[in-house]
Amino acid sequence: MNDQSLASASRCPIDHQALARAAAPNGCPVSAGGAAFNPFEGAYMQAPAEYLRWAREQEPVFWSPQLGYWVVTRYEDVKAVFRDNILFSPSVALEKITPATPEVAQILEGYGYAMRRTMVNEDEPDHMARRRLLTDAFLPERLMDYEPTVRALARQYMDRFIDQGRADLVAEMFYEIPLNIALKFLGVPDEGAEQLRQFAVAHTLNTWGRPTPQEQLEIADNVGKFWQVAQKILADMMAQPDGEGWMYESIRQHHRHPDIVTASYLQSMMMAILAAAHETTSNATANAFMTLLTHRKAWESICANPALIPNAVEECLRVAGSIIAWRRMATADTTVGGVAIPQGSKLLLVQASANFDTRHFENPDEVDLYRENAVEHLTFGYGAHQCMGKNIGRMQMRVFLEEFVRRLPHIHLVEGQQFEFLPNTSFRGPAQLWVQWDPAQNPERVRPGAMQEPAPFYIGPPAKDSIARTVVVREKHAEGTDLLRFVLADPHGEALPAWTAGAHVDLIAGGFRRKYSLCGRADDRHSLQVVVQREAQGRGGSQHFCDHIAAGSTLQLSGPKNLFGLDESARHFVLIAGGIGITPMVAMADRLRRLGKSYELHYAGRSRQHMALLARLEQDHADHLHLYIKADGQRMDLGRLLATVDEGTRVYACGPDRLIAALETLSEQWPANVLHFEHFSAESAVLDPSKEHAFVAQLKDSNVSVTVAADQTLLQALQAAGFDVPCDCGEGLCGTCEVAVVEGEGDHRDKVLTKAERAANRRLMACCSRAAGDKIVLAL
Ligand code: HEM
Ligand code: FES
Repeated sequence: MNDQSLASASRCPIDHQALARAAAPNGCPVSAGGAAFNPFEGAYMQAPAEYLRWAREQEPVFWSPQLGYWVVTRYEDVKAVFRDNILFSPSVALEKITPATPEVAQILEGYGYAMRRTMVNEDEPDHMARRRLLTDAFLPERLMDYEPTVRALARQYMDRFIDQGRADLVAEMFYEIPLNIALKFLGVPDEGAEQLRQFAVAHTLNTWGRPTPQEQLEIADNVGKFWQVAQKILADMMAQPDGEGWMYESIRQHHRHPDIVTASYLQSMMMAILAAAHETTSNATANAFMTLLTHRKAWESICANPALIPNAVEECLRVAGSIIAWRRMATADTTVGGVAIPQGSKLLLVQASANFDTRHFENPDEVDLYRENAVEHLTFGYGAHQCMGKNIGRMQMRVFLEEFVRRLPHIHLVEGQQFEFLPNTSFRGPAQLWVQWDPAQNPERVRPGAMQEPAPFYIGPPAKDSIARTVVVREKHAEGTDLLRFVLADPHGEALPAWTAGAHVDLIAGGFRRKYSLCGRADDRHSLQVVVQREAQGRGGSQHFCDHIAAGSTLQLSGPKNLFGLDESARHFVLIAGGIGITPMVAMADRLRRLGKSYELHYAGRSRQHMALLARLEQDHADHLHLYIKADGQRMDLGRLLATVDEGTRVYACGPDRLIAALETLSEQWPANVLHFEHFSAESAVLDPSKEHAFVAQLKDSNVSVTVAADQTLLQALQAAGFDVPCDCGEGLCGTCEVAVVEGEGDHRDKVLTKAERAANRRLMACCSRAAGDKIVLAL
């Protein structure tokens, strides 16, 4: 190629400079990045989060003149827009992003195409009135019935190619099974499934793509046919409306409430749901396999420990979701991420970018199967319109992974393949996914009958217990009376996750799960240390760890997680520990010493024999350490120690309830935010229904009310209603299940909030706290 042709080949047909000269609708100039943004080019589809990294860092909300949309790229902003479906109407969600030419409109008219509102693009109050009537079939307990069917289909489809050694998983399995399940769920007969594939592609390009005027004509033809097929199916179903499936339930609700579930609504819904229920899951499955097989270690981890699969599903939905961007329209002048957005503006919320926001996810570029907040991805949207079918999608992905790690753990991606995606703003999944393997190594050939059957499971977000890695006890040392220090390592000598001072891990063994603060060296990535105090009168966990876990034993570990982090900006630090509460304090003292901060460490205990880590403390922190040993007649006088607390001081404390209560009383005289503490355990997290009253939790973001019975925790009621509120300790200690309170008084029973925070009544721990009255309004 000569210089001239090179120049013309690289000349872009779009005049970026001209676009950049134009102002955005709020009067601000268009940035170069904004002018260049083109989701219909390869780079966006190949790696949407990477393509928008610049925006997350420099211009998180930008105007795209090529699209005529504001593009929103950060987690908090995307979630905030999803959260408010009145200010940000979903009415544009299914609008053609490339306006139809008059010819296209004519073709569609010829087919009687009359796509109107469906669930996903409906405004309030109509949307919620309908969603409430049509939601039952999506509840987790109803979905349990589908799991055996998905598994049977997965096995049957795998049987077809398991001896071949090579397959395109999309063509052989991931396209058809979700379609089959979608049709079953909807109650739609499955003849004509192949035709639906062609239609679905047309529907995606028609709605979210940028077809040329010529392509638009062909697409319009297919969309028109799709519409007619969908109408025919609906008419047949309506003629015999007693069948099983969600569309039948919708038809019956139409007969009961014709003004809410209208006939036109059913018509539009029929077409939209066929795509929503199917393609999303097909693509998400293909994306998940593509992700895990590309990150081979992650794949090997789930093969070695299939209990990780539920969280692997969430992590894959985070890093490679099948819906990567969704749309809203501002109904009034407003701001998003500090940018003025005029009324009527359209917004493209790029969930794929938000899911990689470092402000919300630590090391977002890593595929981390142990990520505790993976489930907070925005791939299912959020708020009143959050995906109703999310648990159907999750359940299928989980079953597929379970079957593959059992039957084909040795599959590899065929090397050198280029993944191709349909160019559009929103639906992402590879057109093909070629894998290969050696059939002679198939486990069922090598060890016939040796394969374990996966157990049926509860459908929903991953259970916290499943997000755990195996560690081996490298050393076990007696630290004093009933005090044992464990040094834990990865069984293969791999690095363990990084942690910060104040972090804890959960140790899981023998049916017990207990939290222990990390007290080793934070810069040692190859070991984690905890001290366990054997409590003879406890609930059995510490006894099990002390008596049955020896050097060489393996156990499960979840975390590290830090709910007790240091505010390193303070001037002076007072660290106060009682008994075993010294463990997080050691790590804090190490950190403060490293930072060269001013700190003092006060440690009280029954006798030297009952105090942990003394030798290390005396060696590393001698100049800062004050011991109060009861057997020697010494006691800690908190009033004297903390007589001169000011705004630049931070007091960190861990120890028995008495100690924390005394500090809380003292802190009433201190500036806010000085005292931070961590308890060992909650007094009683057991619910006594005879002493409780039922109440209603009104969920503002979702526009739903959930009744919490007297014998139920708020968390249980929320989870049963399909809300993914995470839970860790389940007893008010960790803060994982926090929900924001909008209105109504909380009956706070946790150990996380300070007195001042309880009084402010902005946050509530759903696992143990309740409403003081009959109703509480939550931002959920
Ligand atoms: C809505 C994603 C599977 C039914 C949505 C929305 C997204 C989404 C992004 C819009 C959310 C919002 O506006 O806040 C996905 C993904 C799936 C999946 C990634 C698979 C992995 C399914 C399945 C079904 C389904 C299997 C049905 C069987 C729906 C419905 C809505 C919806 C009915 C509208 C809810 C409303 O507006 O109130 N989905 N979806 N989805 N999805 Fe899904
Ligand atoms: Fe730990 Fe609720 S889950 S406070």
